[in-house]
Formats: sequence, structure tokens, C-alpha cells
Amino acid sequence: MQETNDILISDYKQDYAGNNALAKDLIFMGGRQTYSLNGEWHYAIDQYDTCLRQKWFLEQYFDKDGRSLPVDFSFQDWPTISLPCSVNTEKPELFWYEGPLVFTRTFSWDMQENMGKKVFLRIGAANYFSYIFLNGKYICKHEGGSTPFMWDVTEYLEKENRILIVSDNTRNHLFVPTENTDWFNYSGVYRDIELVALPTEYLKDLKVNLVPHSDFSQIRIAAETSADSGIVTVEIPELQIATSMEIQNGKGEIVVEARPNLWSPETPILYDVTATFGQDKVVDRVGFREISVEGRDILLNGKKLFLRGVSVHEDSQFTGKALRDEERLTIIRTAKELGANYLRLAHYPHHENMAKLCDEQGILLWEEIPVYWAIAFDNPATYNNARNQLEELMCRDFNRASVIIWSVGNENLDSDDRFRFMGNLADFAHQYDNTRMVSAACLVDGETLSIKDRLAEKLDIIGVNEYIGWYSPNFEELPQLMNNSNPTKPVIISEFGADATPGLHGSVDDKGTEECQEAIYRKQIEVIRQIPYIKGITPWILFDFRCPRRTAAIQGYYNRKGLVSSDRTYYKPAFSVLQSFYREF
Ligand code: GCU
Repeated sequence: MQETNDILISDYKQDYAGNNALAKDLIFMGGRQTYSLNGEWHYAIDQYDTCLRQKWFLEQYFDKDGRSLPVDFSFQDWPTISLPCSVNTEKPELFWYEGPLVFTRTFSWDMQENMGKKVFLRIGAANYFSYIFLNGKYICKHEGGSTPFMWDVTEYLEKENRILIVSDNTRNHLFVPTENTDWFNYSGVYRDIELVALPTEYLKDLKVNLVPHSDFSQIRIAAETSADSGIVTVEIPELQIATSMEIQNGKGEIVVEARPNLWSPETPILYDVTATFGQDKVVDRVGFREISVEGRDILLNGKKLFLRGVSVHEDSQFTGKALRDEERLTIIRTAKELGANYLRLAHYPHHENMAKLCDEQGILLWEEIPVYWAIAFDNPATYNNARNQLEELMCRDFNRASVIIWSVGNENLDSDDRFRFMGNLADFAHQYDNTRMVSAACLVDGETLSIKDRLAEKLDIIGVNEYIGWYSPNFEELPQLMNNSNPTKPVIISEFGADATPGLHGSVDDKGTEECQEAIYRKQIEVIRQIPYIKGITPWILFDFRCPRRTAAIQGYYNRKGLVSSDRTYYKPAFSVLQSFYREF
């Protein structure tokens, strides 16, 4: 038996209890030069978490007297995989795998060139728990499968380095999301892995926005720096802005008068913003717009708006969650072909490039954290995790004009714990960001058949999912639902829809046929279009997507509620029904 009792103990993760990467550890990345660690990594399937138990990252090949020891790993002889990726779509033998995976590679680092700099590791996202090791040292861990995390690795870097990542997508009731969702639990490190070298004093964050209710004439610029004091300069040349702010206690903020051309889906105008602090410089491209609600109206730049939307998952038949930018552009192009001006990025933060592309292409966005279904609302650690994921998302996408709504969850049964948990998240979002609306996709109140959820008092816009005609086949319930409801705030129907297997035909009553889906869309739109308090819809969903819960022969482990097939080529008739409705605007 081993000298150490590492395989005999159960609480082996106590050795990794510290160094939790959180939103506070994120650093603004706009325009920074990075050193990519994407590419060929060696990997192993580590079902029993033996790497963390036995501490493979120490590479103990000899005992204290120099005698060789047996080891259960061989980093350089392991097979390789190109990261970032969803391993499930890259390795057939890993398609259904869930659990710990170990990824490792070596890389050189120019110590001379980077002398005196602070170097941070940034991972765009890895699902779900990530443990990072560098040159045999435990660096940090991160919880959450959809948001970036960073850590200062300056002191650990050498000329020749080995980095090792344990990525574990095991599901759990205490996590966010829990063990039960309606989407595929892809494994692995699926967004960029990079190092960024900064001067010792650097810009930690830069937030730029139109000041709400300032008659579109004021721009707020807020900066955070690594140093307590100093001067941050900011330039927005096309607005003749060249100004500076004093940093005190690591923060500074100024408001400048300006009349930018306002960003909108029709006019997605972006301005180059440059900020400097000592030797540090960052850039961003920012659109200036105001989203607000008045009574039961949603206003963009003071004008009433109907959100012609559709829901999308970050799911690709080809690349899992590791979509390429051309796939994101296909999503946007298909949405525009539908006549959409708005997308619901369900049910978790999508890649940051989605919001950047929507800034450029003129698509409004609902972004969401995966507080989905039966979350452990009574568990403080679960709340802290959800809050941190929300903060990581808001910090990452704050400067994205396209993002107009933060959603704090989806389809959560009401309870005192749920109300406290999600109400606190909504309060936190409002406190963090006064430039956006806060919403959630709520359930219909089944007892009264109405849009009624006490969480609405914490929201600016009420999202509601209803599947009348599908899960609730009695279509009479839809006009009843609408007439039973009298919301005082704008409502978005955040989901309605029906499955249709591409090419499957039958009567309108045959569930799963294109005719049935088309009929449900027609009836839904016929009712919704008459309801004055509904100010947007995001039918479920633009593309068919992988889903382990959907085992019927006509589903084949796919949720078939897409308006378009999973390979994004086959348009079902319901697409045209929705398209016709959107063309009326
Ligand atoms: C739910 C849920 C979706 C799910 C959909 C469905 O409303 O929000 O994530 O995929 O319904 O049942 O297809």
C-alpha cells in the first residue's frame, strides 16, 4: 500500500480548499496582448479523481532516497486533444463521459522579456469545477461552468513550465445548475486558455456607459486599478473626449457631457474607447444606448420597443459548447432572417464573443445564469456560487450595448427560500448595474392560471414560460391565462413552443410533427399579438439541441423544439409562421 494514505482518505479535496478564483479576481482584457495556451494538450480520463488524491501534479518519480517510485500517470505519453473543446464531440469514446478529466501541457516562458511584469492565467470557461496546477504547485480552483476566471501566476512561472488542469463536470444538487437540466452536460475546458502579462500597476476594470435618464447626453466612465492612487486617462476620439480621472482607493469615476449616436439594432454604432494607467493601456468598442421600462412598456433610447426574439442554447451538433465564431455568426444570421432583433441566451452565460458580435450586428440580448429548476435555495454556498457567477457575467459583459437584460434564473418553483435567493440576486444585479433591466423566466401560477409570481416585485421585466398547446394541450387556457393576468410591468413570453422532428409529418394533433408545431405557433401568436402588456417573445428555440432526457425514437437524445434542425440547415414550417409575425413590425 502507498506510503501516504492519499487513497485511503475521503476528504482529499481539503488540500484544495483555498485559492478560489472569483469575480473579484477578473481583470479587464480589452485589447490586451495574450500568450495563448490553446492547442495540443495531453489528457487522461480520471474517473476516480486520482490526480487530486495522489497529487500527480507533484510528479514524484523518486522517494526521498532517490529510489524510483511507481506512478499511475504518464503525461507525455497520454493521448492529445486540441483545447479548447467540448471533449464529447471530439472523442467518440468520451461522448457520454462525465467526471474528472486531466489536461496537461508544457510551455516556455520568456522570463527576461516579462521581467517585472505581473502574469495572470485566464480561462474563458471550463465545465464545471476546475483545479489549476503550475510546475507542481496548486494555483487555484473555480466553480461554475460558463464564466471566465483568472489567477496571478507570476511567482510560479519558470523558463520551462508544466500546466495541469483537472476539469470535472460531475453534476450535483448543490451546484448551479443542479444535477437535473434539459441540456447536454458537455465536459472539458471549452473556451480560451491564455496568459496575460501586465505592468505592475494596471487597469483592473473599465466600465463605460450612457448615464441612464440623462437625456442621452452623459457618459459615465468608471475605472478600477491595481494601485490605490494615480491617474487614468480616457479617450473617445469620435466624441472629442480626452479626459482623465483621479484614482483613490483603487477606484475612480467621471461623467462627461457627450451626444453619441445611439446604439440600436438598426444603428449598431460602436465607439473606440482607450484608457491608460501608467504603462497599462486597454481598449474597447462601446455602443451607447439606454434601456428602460415605463409602466408596461420597454423603451430603447426612449422609444417603445417590442422584443422580436427567439431562444438559443450554446449548443452545436459539431462542437458541443465550443462553438466557433462562424457558428455564432450563423446563429445571428438565422435570427436576423427570422426577423428577430433580440435573442435569449439560455440558460447560462454564452461565450463573450456572442455579445461582441451582437454589438456589431445589432441584436439585443437577455443573458442568464443557470439558476435553473430545483436549485438548493436553502444552501448558502449555493447562493454564493450563483451570485459569483452573476458577478462574473456582469463584469465580463458590462460594456456590451447588446446586453439589455440580466436574468437571475429559469422556471423555479416559488418558496420562501427561492424568493429570498432569487430576490437577493435581483437586488445585487440592480446594485451592480443600473444600466440594465433584471428579469427571470418565471412559471405560470398553476392555481390561478395567471402570470403571478411574487418574484416580479424584484424584477423590471417579468419573463414567463408557458407551453399551452404542448405540455398543457388545452389551448383554451392561453386566452384565459392572458385575461386572468394583470401585470403592472412589461411581460416577455420567455418560452413557448413544441417539438417537431424535421421531416416528420401528420395531423396538427400528432405531437412531434411539423404540422403540430406550426399549428401551435399560429395559435400562440394569434393570442399573444392581442395582449397589450406582452412586450416581447423568445419562443423555445431556434435550433434543435442535444438533451439526454429526450430518449423517444423521434427525439434521439435531442430536444426537437427548434425552428431549425440541429445542423442549422432545415427550416421547419413554424419558422415562417414566426417570421411572418415579425415582418409585421
Ligand atoms: C423548459 C425549460 C427549457 C426546456 C423546455 C422544454 O421551459 O426552460 O430549458 O428545454 O422547457 O421542455 O423543451
